[in-house]
Amino acid sequence: MNENTVLKIQDLRTYFFSRSKQAFIRSVDGVDLQINRGETLGIVGESGSGKSVTALSVTGLVTAQPGVITGSVEFTSNGVTKNLLHGLEDFVTLDTVDGRIMEVEKDNRGWQRNVDRHLHHIRGREISMIFQNPRVSMNPFMTIGKQITETIILNTAIKNVAEATDRAKYWLEQVKIDSPNLRLENFPYGLSGGMCQRAMIAMALSSEPSLLIADEPTTGLDSTIQSKIIDLLVDLKNEVGVTTMLISHDINIILRLANTVAVMYGGTVLESGPAQNILSIDDEYKHPYTAALLESIPDEEHIKLKGHLKAIEGDVLDTVNIPDGCRFYTRCNRVHDRIEDKCKHSEPDLREISEGRRVRCWLYYN
Ligand SMILES: Nc1ncnc2c1ncn2[C@@H]1O[C@H](COP(=O)(O)OP(=O)(O)OP(=O)(O)O)[C@@H](O)[C@H]1O
Ligand code: SF4
Ligand SMILES: [Mg+2]
Repeated sequence: MNENTVLKIQDLRTYFFSRSKQAFIRSVDGVDLQINRGETLGIVGESGSGKSVTALSVTGLVTAQPGVITGSVEFTSNGVTKNLLHGLEDFVTLDTVDGRIMEVEKDNRGWQRNVDRHLHHIRGREISMIFQNPRVSMNPFMTIGKQITETIILNTAIKNVAEATDRAKYWLEQVKIDSPNLRLENFPYGLSGGMCQRAMIAMALSSEPSLLIADEPTTGLDSTIQSKIIDLLVDLKNEVGVTTMLISHDINIILRLANTVAVMYGGTVLESGPAQNILSIDDEYKHPYTAALLESIPDEEHIKLKGHLKAIEGDVLDTVNIPDGCRFYTRCNRVHDRIEDKCKHSEPDLREISEGRRVRCWLYYN
C-alpha cells in the first residue's frame, strides 16, 4: 500500500449459501484491487461476474444472513487507514478443505453489530455511492434541496442551514442541472430520470467523500441522456477529481473515465492495470476474456450489417461449481497443446507481468 492508495482489497471472498443447492454461491472469490487518490478504477465484466457484490462488500451492504465475507479491505481517509472487514472473523468459524470454504458457523447479530459500528461513520460520508436507479436511493417525501442540505450538515464542517443550502445549490450547479434554485424545491418524482441522476450525483459529492462508488450510473437511462451523464462524469473528474470505483459492463463509459481497469469473471479478477493497456486490443499481454469482451463492443458497421450485438460464446461461469483449472477454460479460444493440461486442472495466479499490469493466464507464464 503506497501513500497514495485510497482502497486496497486483498483476497476478498463473499459467499452466499444457497439452500436449494445446499452449496455456496461464490459471488466474489479472491478479488485483489487497488485505487490510488484522484484516480478512477473501472471494473468491467459480464453480468453476474461479481462487480456489484464486490462494491456491496466494501460498504458492508451485504446482509449478514446468509453471506460470509473474508479477506481485507484497507481504506485510507484523512490520513487514517482502516480494514473495513476488521473483526468479522471473530463472529465466524470456517471449515475449509484445500483452502476452500465448505461450512460456516456464524453469530449473525454480532457480525451485523460489528459492521454497523465500523461503517456507520464511513458510509455516505467518507464513501459515497451512486446506483443505477437514483429514485430508489432518494427519499421520495423530501425535497432535493433538503436531502442535499442534510447530507452536507451531517457529513461536512458546514453546520449552518443557510450555508448548507448555498452549498447544495453549488453542487446542483456543478452537476449542470438546469434551474438549480427551482430544483432545490422539487421532490425526486418531479424530476426526469436524467435530472434525478444528476441530483443523486450532487448528493453523493456533497459529503466530499474520499471514495465514490458508482455502480452502473448510466444504465436504465435512455441513450442520449446516458451520453450526457457520461460527459458530466468526465467534467466532474477533471474539476472535482474524486477517487472513484466505476462499475459498468459498458466498456465505452470505462474508456472515457478510467485510469486503471480490472476485468472480472466468475467472481475473480482476470486482468488489471493501466486503462490504456487493458483497453487496447493490440496490447501484447491481453487476457483472452478481455479480448473477447473488447470484440463484443458493437461498431456502427457491425450493427448495420448484423442488426445485433456480438456476444461472447458459451455460458457465464456457474459460481457454485467453480472448476479447478482456469475459470475461462470452456470458453477460451487461445488454449494450445503446451498449456492445455494446466488450463484444465490448475488455476493461474493473477501475476504481475510489468509495473502495475497483472494477468491471470497460463499463456504469459514461463
Ligand atoms: N444476495 C444474494 N444471494 C445469492 N446470490 C447472490 C446475491 N447477490 C448476488 N448474488 C449472485 O452473485 C453473483 C454476482 O452478482 P453481482 O450482482 O455482483 O453481478 P454483477 O457483475 O454486478 O452483474 P450485473 O452486470 O448484472 O450487475 C450472481 O451470480 C448473483 O446471482
Ligand atoms: S489460462 Fe488457458 S484457458 Fe485460461 S484464459 Fe489463459 S489460455 Fe485460456
Ligand atoms: Mg451489478
